[in-house]
Amino acid sequence: MSEEEAHANLAVPAFRTEKVAKTQTQNGHGTVWRFGGADKAAKAATVTLRGVIYMLFDNCSKDVKKTILPLGHGDPSVYPCFRTCIEAEDAVVNVLRSGNSNSYCPGAGILPARRAVADYLNRDLPNKLTPDDIFLTAGCNQGIELVFESLARPNANILLPRPGFPHYDARAVYSGLEIRKFDLLPDREWEIDLEGVEAVADENTVAIVVINPNNPCGNVYSHDHLHKVADAARKLGIMVITDEVYDQTIFGDNPFVPMAKFASIVPVLTLGGISKGWVVPGWKIGWIALNDPEGVFESTKVVQSIKQSLDITPDPSTIIQVCVLLLLMGWLGC
Ligand SMILES: Cc1ncc(COP(=O)(O)O)c(C=O)c1O
Repeated sequence: MSEEEAHANLAVPAFRTEKVAKTQTQNGHGTVWRFGGADKAAKAATVTLRGVIYMLFDNCSKDVKKTILPLGHGDPSVYPCFRTCIEAEDAVVNVLRSGNSNSYCPGAGILPARRAVADYLNRDLPNKLTPDDIFLTAGCNQGIELVFESLARPNANILLPRPGFPHYDARAVYSGLEIRKFDLLPDREWEIDLEGVEAVADENTVAIVVINPNNPCGNVYSHDHLHKVADAARKLGIMVITDEVYDQTIFGDNPFVPMAKFASIVPVLTLGGISKGWVVPGWKIGWIALNDPEGVFESTKVVQSIKQSLDITPDPSTIIQVCVLLLLMGWLGC
Protein backbone atom coordinates (compact mmCIF):
# COMPACT_ATOMS: atom_id res chain seq x y z
CA MET A 1 0.00 0.00 0.00
CA SER A 2 1.42 3.42 -0.90
CA GLU A 3 1.74 6.09 1.76
CA GLU A 4 -1.03 8.14 0.15
CA GLU A 5 -3.42 5.15 0.03
CA ALA A 6 -2.68 4.44 3.68
CA HIS A 7 -3.83 7.95 4.57
CA ALA A 8 -6.77 8.09 2.16
CA ASN A 9 -9.14 8.85 5.02
CA LEU A 10 -7.26 11.99 6.00
CA ALA A 11 -9.07 15.24 5.18
CA VAL A 12 -5.97 16.92 3.68
CA PRO A 13 -5.19 16.11 0.06
CA ALA A 14 -1.53 17.10 0.04
CA PHE A 15 -0.43 15.06 3.05
CA ARG A 16 3.01 13.49 2.94
CA THR A 17 5.44 12.21 5.54
CA GLU A 18 9.19 12.20 5.27
CA LYS A 19 10.91 8.85 5.08
CA VAL A 20 13.87 8.40 7.38
CA ALA A 21 16.90 8.09 5.15
CA LYS A 22 19.23 5.16 5.62
CA THR A 23 22.73 6.24 6.46
CA GLN A 24 25.35 4.91 4.10
CA THR A 25 28.95 5.79 4.53
CA GLN A 26 30.64 3.13 2.45
CA ASN A 27 29.68 1.56 -0.91
CA GLY A 28 30.50 -1.94 -2.15
CA HIS A 29 33.85 -0.76 -3.58
CA GLY A 30 35.13 0.51 -0.27
CA THR A 31 34.58 4.20 -1.04
CA VAL A 32 33.93 6.28 2.04
CA TRP A 33 31.54 9.09 1.17
CA ARG A 34 32.82 12.38 2.53
CA PHE A 35 29.42 14.12 2.64
CA GLY A 36 26.42 13.80 4.93
CA GLY A 37 23.28 15.74 5.83
CA ALA A 38 23.86 18.64 8.20
CA ASP A 39 22.03 18.58 11.50
CA LYS A 40 21.60 22.36 11.87
CA ALA A 41 17.81 22.08 11.51
CA ALA A 42 17.44 18.91 13.58
CA LYS A 43 16.76 20.61 16.92
CA ALA A 44 14.47 23.24 15.39
CA ALA A 45 12.54 20.58 13.45
CA THR A 46 11.50 18.84 16.66
CA VAL A 47 9.35 21.82 17.62
CA THR A 48 7.56 22.40 14.31
CA LEU A 49 3.80 22.00 14.08
CA ARG A 50 4.18 19.97 10.89
CA GLY A 51 6.50 17.55 12.64
CA VAL A 52 4.06 16.97 15.50
CA ILE A 53 0.96 16.69 13.30
CA TYR A 54 2.54 14.29 10.84
CA MET A 55 3.85 12.18 13.70
CA LEU A 56 0.29 11.98 15.11
CA PHE A 57 -1.10 11.03 11.69
CA ASP A 58 1.52 8.35 11.33
CA ASN A 59 0.50 6.92 14.67
CA CYS A 60 -3.19 6.72 13.68
CA SER A 61 -4.22 3.21 12.81
CA LYS A 62 -4.43 2.81 9.02
CA ASP A 63 -7.29 0.31 9.44
CA VAL A 64 -9.69 2.74 11.06
CA LYS A 65 -11.79 4.07 8.23
CA LYS A 66 -13.01 7.18 10.07
CA THR A 67 -12.20 10.57 8.55
CA ILE A 68 -9.36 12.25 10.44
CA LEU A 69 -9.81 16.01 10.85
CA PRO A 70 -6.42 17.73 11.04
CA LEU A 71 -7.46 20.48 13.45
CA GLY A 72 -3.93 21.80 13.88
CA HIS A 73 -3.42 22.29 10.16
CA GLY A 74 -4.13 26.01 9.60
CA ASP A 75 -4.94 25.81 5.91
CA PRO A 76 -8.58 26.63 5.18
CA SER A 77 -8.07 26.27 1.42
CA VAL A 78 -8.13 22.46 1.62
CA TYR A 79 -11.83 22.57 2.49
CA PRO A 80 -14.15 23.17 -0.49
CA CYS A 81 -16.27 25.65 1.48
CA PHE A 82 -13.31 28.07 1.70
CA ARG A 83 -12.26 29.30 -1.71
CA THR A 84 -10.74 32.59 -2.72
CA CYS A 85 -12.81 34.80 -5.03
CA ILE A 86 -12.83 33.97 -8.71
CA GLU A 87 -11.66 37.51 -9.54
CA ALA A 88 -8.41 36.87 -7.64
CA GLU A 89 -7.86 33.61 -9.51
CA ASP A 90 -8.58 35.36 -12.83
CA ALA A 91 -6.10 38.08 -11.87
CA VAL A 92 -3.34 35.50 -11.46
CA VAL A 93 -4.13 34.07 -14.91
CA ASN A 94 -4.26 37.53 -16.52
CA VAL A 95 -1.04 38.76 -14.91
CA LEU A 96 0.68 35.52 -15.95
CA ARG A 97 -0.63 35.79 -19.53
CA SER A 98 0.38 39.47 -19.82
CA GLY A 99 4.02 38.39 -19.85
CA ASN A 100 4.85 41.56 -17.87
CA SER A 101 5.73 39.87 -14.60
CA ASN A 102 8.22 37.22 -15.61
CA SER A 103 11.21 39.14 -14.28
CA TYR A 104 13.16 39.10 -11.05
CA CYS A 105 12.05 41.77 -8.63
CA PRO A 106 13.95 43.96 -6.15
CA GLY A 107 14.76 42.21 -2.84
CA ALA A 108 12.19 44.28 -0.94
CA GLY A 109 9.46 43.60 -3.51
CA ILE A 110 7.99 45.64 -6.36
CA LEU A 111 7.25 49.26 -5.48
CA PRO A 112 3.50 49.31 -6.37
CA ALA A 113 2.87 46.25 -4.17
CA ARG A 114 4.83 47.77 -1.27
CA ARG A 115 2.79 50.94 -1.69
CA ALA A 116 -0.44 48.90 -1.70
CA VAL A 117 0.56 47.15 1.56
CA ALA A 118 1.41 50.53 3.14
CA ASP A 119 -1.98 51.96 2.07
CA TYR A 120 -3.78 48.84 3.35
CA LEU A 121 -2.15 49.11 6.79
CA ASN A 122 -2.40 52.94 6.92
CA ARG A 123 -6.22 52.79 7.02
CA ASP A 124 -6.01 52.34 10.80
CA LEU A 125 -2.74 54.07 11.67
CA PRO A 126 -1.96 57.53 13.04
CA ASN A 127 1.73 57.33 11.97
CA LYS A 128 1.59 56.61 8.26
CA LEU A 129 3.82 54.04 6.59
CA THR A 130 5.57 54.66 3.27
CA PRO A 131 6.54 51.96 0.74
CA ASP A 132 10.09 52.20 2.16
CA ASP A 133 8.79 50.76 5.44
CA ILE A 134 7.44 47.62 3.73
CA PHE A 135 9.30 44.45 2.71
CA LEU A 136 7.52 41.66 0.86
CA THR A 137 8.25 38.10 1.92
CA ALA A 138 7.38 34.56 0.83
CA GLY A 139 4.49 34.30 3.29
CA CYS A 140 4.32 35.55 6.84
CA ASN A 141 6.54 32.63 7.87
CA GLN A 142 9.46 33.97 5.85
CA GLY A 143 8.91 37.31 7.60
CA ILE A 144 9.36 35.53 10.95
CA GLU A 145 12.52 33.86 9.67
CA LEU A 146 14.08 37.05 8.31
CA VAL A 147 13.33 39.04 11.44
CA PHE A 148 14.72 36.39 13.76
CA GLU A 149 17.86 36.07 11.64
CA SER A 150 18.22 39.85 11.76
CA LEU A 151 17.90 39.99 15.56
CA ALA A 152 20.05 37.01 16.47
CA ARG A 153 23.33 37.94 18.12
CA PRO A 154 25.28 36.19 20.87
CA ASN A 155 23.28 35.76 24.12
CA ALA A 156 20.16 37.50 22.76
CA ASN A 157 16.82 36.18 24.00
CA ILE A 158 13.27 36.68 22.73
CA LEU A 159 9.94 36.56 24.56
CA LEU A 160 7.40 34.14 23.05
CA PRO A 161 3.79 33.49 24.14
CA ARG A 162 2.67 30.26 25.79
CA PRO A 163 0.58 28.85 24.13
CA GLY A 164 1.93 30.06 20.82
CA PHE A 165 2.48 29.34 17.14
CA PRO A 166 5.34 26.79 17.08
CA HIS A 167 7.06 28.22 14.00
CA TYR A 168 8.36 31.00 16.29
CA ASP A 169 9.99 28.45 18.57
CA ALA A 170 11.49 26.54 15.66
CA ARG A 171 12.93 29.64 14.03
CA ALA A 172 14.27 31.00 17.32
CA VAL A 173 16.08 27.71 17.90
CA TYR A 174 17.39 27.74 14.32
CA SER A 175 18.62 31.34 14.62
CA GLY A 176 20.24 30.75 17.99
CA LEU A 177 17.89 33.08 19.88
CA GLU A 178 17.22 31.94 23.43
CA ILE A 179 13.49 31.49 24.03
CA ARG A 180 11.85 32.91 27.15
CA LYS A 181 8.15 32.19 27.57
CA PHE A 182 5.42 34.37 29.04
CA ASP A 183 1.91 33.11 29.72
CA LEU A 184 -1.39 33.99 28.09
CA LEU A 185 -4.03 33.99 30.82
CA PRO A 186 -7.10 31.84 30.05
CA ASP A 187 -9.26 33.42 32.76
CA ARG A 188 -8.50 36.90 31.37
CA GLU A 189 -9.43 36.12 27.75
CA TRP A 190 -5.85 35.08 26.97
CA GLU A 191 -4.38 38.47 27.84
CA ILE A 192 -0.61 38.61 28.16
CA ASP A 193 0.70 38.14 31.70
CA LEU A 194 2.61 41.42 31.79
CA GLU A 195 4.10 40.79 35.20
CA GLY A 196 5.40 37.49 33.85
CA VAL A 197 6.91 39.36 30.88
CA GLU A 198 8.86 41.65 33.20
CA ALA A 199 9.96 38.68 35.28
CA VAL A 200 11.52 36.75 32.37
CA ALA A 201 13.08 39.69 30.49
CA ASP A 202 16.62 40.88 31.12
CA GLU A 203 19.27 43.07 29.50
CA ASN A 204 19.72 40.54 26.66
CA THR A 205 16.04 40.51 25.68
CA VAL A 206 15.50 41.98 22.23
CA ALA A 207 11.78 41.59 21.46
CA ILE A 208 8.38 40.37 22.55
CA VAL A 209 6.14 38.52 20.07
CA VAL A 210 2.42 39.32 20.13
CA ILE A 211 0.06 37.29 17.93
CA ASN A 212 -3.13 39.24 17.36
CA PRO A 213 -5.74 37.98 16.50
CA ASN A 214 -4.31 35.10 18.39
CA ASN A 215 -3.35 31.68 17.15
CA PRO A 216 -4.01 29.29 18.84
CA CYS A 217 -6.35 30.96 21.39
CA GLY A 218 -8.56 32.83 18.93
CA ASN A 219 -8.87 35.98 21.07
CA VAL A 220 -8.48 39.58 19.86
CA TYR A 221 -6.61 41.95 22.18
CA SER A 222 -8.32 45.14 23.32
CA HIS A 223 -6.95 48.63 22.67
CA ASP A 224 -6.20 49.06 26.39
CA HIS A 225 -4.32 45.80 26.68
CA LEU A 226 -2.15 46.56 23.65
CA HIS A 227 -1.43 49.98 25.13
CA LYS A 228 -0.15 48.25 28.28
CA VAL A 229 1.97 45.88 26.17
CA ALA A 230 3.54 48.90 24.45
CA ASP A 231 4.27 50.58 27.80
CA ALA A 232 5.82 47.38 29.17
CA ALA A 233 8.00 46.92 26.07
CA ARG A 234 9.18 50.53 26.21
CA LYS A 235 10.09 50.13 29.87
CA LEU A 236 12.17 47.06 28.97
CA GLY A 237 13.74 48.74 25.92
CA ILE A 238 12.58 45.99 23.54
CA MET A 239 10.70 46.06 20.24
CA VAL A 240 7.27 44.52 19.69
CA ILE A 241 6.95 41.99 16.87
CA THR A 242 3.26 41.67 16.12
CA ASP A 243 1.92 38.86 13.94
CA GLU A 244 -1.31 40.08 12.37
CA VAL A 245 -1.70 37.46 9.66
CA TYR A 246 -5.22 36.80 11.03
CA ASP A 247 -6.27 40.46 10.86
CA GLN A 248 -9.45 39.45 9.05
CA THR A 249 -10.36 36.49 11.25
CA ILE A 250 -12.13 38.13 14.18
CA PHE A 251 -13.89 36.08 16.89
CA GLY A 252 -15.67 37.72 19.84
CA ASP A 253 -16.61 41.35 20.50
CA ASN A 254 -13.24 43.11 20.47
CA PRO A 255 -12.54 44.97 17.24
CA PHE A 256 -9.09 44.32 15.76
CA VAL A 257 -6.61 47.05 16.74
CA PRO A 258 -3.22 47.02 14.99
CA MET A 259 -0.30 47.12 17.42
CA ALA A 260 1.26 49.83 15.26
CA LYS A 261 -1.22 52.30 16.76
CA PHE A 262 1.27 52.42 19.64
CA ALA A 263 4.37 52.92 17.50
CA SER A 264 4.98 56.34 19.06
CA ILE A 265 5.53 54.52 22.39
CA VAL A 266 7.63 51.60 21.14
CA PRO A 267 8.95 50.49 17.71
CA VAL A 268 6.57 47.92 16.24
CA LEU A 269 7.45 45.41 13.55
CA THR A 270 4.26 44.09 11.95
CA LEU A 271 4.13 40.74 10.15
CA GLY A 272 1.18 40.05 7.88
CA GLY A 273 0.04 38.47 4.66
CA ILE A 274 -2.84 37.34 2.49
CA SER A 275 -2.75 33.60 3.35
CA LYS A 276 -5.64 33.60 5.78
CA GLY A 277 -7.77 36.60 4.75
CA TRP A 278 -7.91 35.57 1.11
CA VAL A 279 -7.60 31.82 1.77
CA VAL A 280 -4.49 31.42 -0.40
CA PRO A 281 -1.61 30.15 1.78
CA GLY A 282 -0.10 28.45 -1.25
CA TRP A 283 0.42 31.79 -2.99
CA LYS A 284 3.17 32.47 -0.45
CA ILE A 285 3.18 36.19 0.06
CA GLY A 286 3.43 38.23 3.21
CA TRP A 287 5.09 41.37 4.51
CA ILE A 288 7.19 43.02 7.16
CA ALA A 289 6.11 46.57 8.07
CA LEU A 290 8.37 48.79 10.17
CA ASN A 291 6.29 51.16 12.30
CA ASP A 292 8.84 53.42 13.84
CA PRO A 293 8.22 57.18 13.84
CA GLU A 294 11.29 57.74 16.07
CA GLY A 295 13.67 55.98 13.67
CA VAL A 296 14.86 53.41 16.24
CA PHE A 297 14.99 50.55 13.71
CA GLU A 298 17.28 52.68 11.55
CA SER A 299 19.61 53.78 14.35
CA THR A 300 19.87 50.24 15.76
CA LYS A 301 20.63 48.90 12.23
CA VAL A 302 17.61 46.56 12.25
CA VAL A 303 16.53 47.97 8.87
CA GLN A 304 19.99 47.40 7.44
CA SER A 305 20.06 43.83 8.72
CA ILE A 306 16.61 43.03 7.27
CA LYS A 307 17.65 44.45 3.89
CA GLN A 308 20.84 42.40 3.92
CA SER A 309 18.89 39.25 4.77
CA LEU A 310 16.45 39.99 1.94
CA ASP A 311 19.37 40.33 -0.46
CA ILE A 312 20.37 36.73 0.15
CA THR A 313 16.94 35.07 0.24
CA PRO A 314 14.56 34.15 -2.59
CA ASP A 315 11.85 36.70 -3.42
CA PRO A 316 8.13 35.99 -3.55
CA SER A 317 6.79 35.45 -7.08
CA THR A 318 6.58 38.68 -9.08
CA ILE A 319 3.24 37.51 -10.54
CA ILE A 320 1.69 37.14 -7.11
CA GLN A 321 3.12 40.49 -6.01
CA VAL A 322 1.14 42.15 -8.79
CA CYS A 323 -1.98 40.27 -7.66
CA VAL A 324 -1.45 41.39 -4.06
CA LEU A 325 -1.45 44.94 -5.30
CA LEU A 326 -4.77 44.37 -7.09
CA LEU A 327 -6.28 42.61 -4.05
CA LEU A 328 -5.22 45.16 -1.45
CA MET A 329 -6.25 48.12 -3.58
CA GLY A 330 -9.73 46.57 -3.64
CA TRP A 331 -9.71 46.57 -7.46
CA LEU A 332 -10.85 42.96 -7.63
CA GLY A 333 -13.86 43.51 -5.38
CA CYS A 334 -12.80 40.78 -2.94
C1 LIG B 1 0.25 33.05 13.73
C2 LIG B 1 0.70 32.64 12.36
N1 LIG B 1 1.68 33.33 11.76
C3 LIG B 1 2.12 32.99 10.53
C4 LIG B 1 1.57 31.93 9.84
C5 LIG B 1 2.11 31.58 8.48
O1 LIG B 1 1.59 32.44 7.51
P1 LIG B 1 1.95 32.22 5.96
O2 LIG B 1 1.11 31.10 5.47
O3 LIG B 1 1.58 33.53 5.30
O4 LIG B 1 3.40 31.96 5.86
C6 LIG B 1 0.55 31.18 10.42
C7 LIG B 1 -0.02 30.02 9.73
O5 LIG B 1 -0.76 29.24 10.24
C8 LIG B 1 0.10 31.55 11.71
O6 LIG B 1 -0.87 30.86 12.32
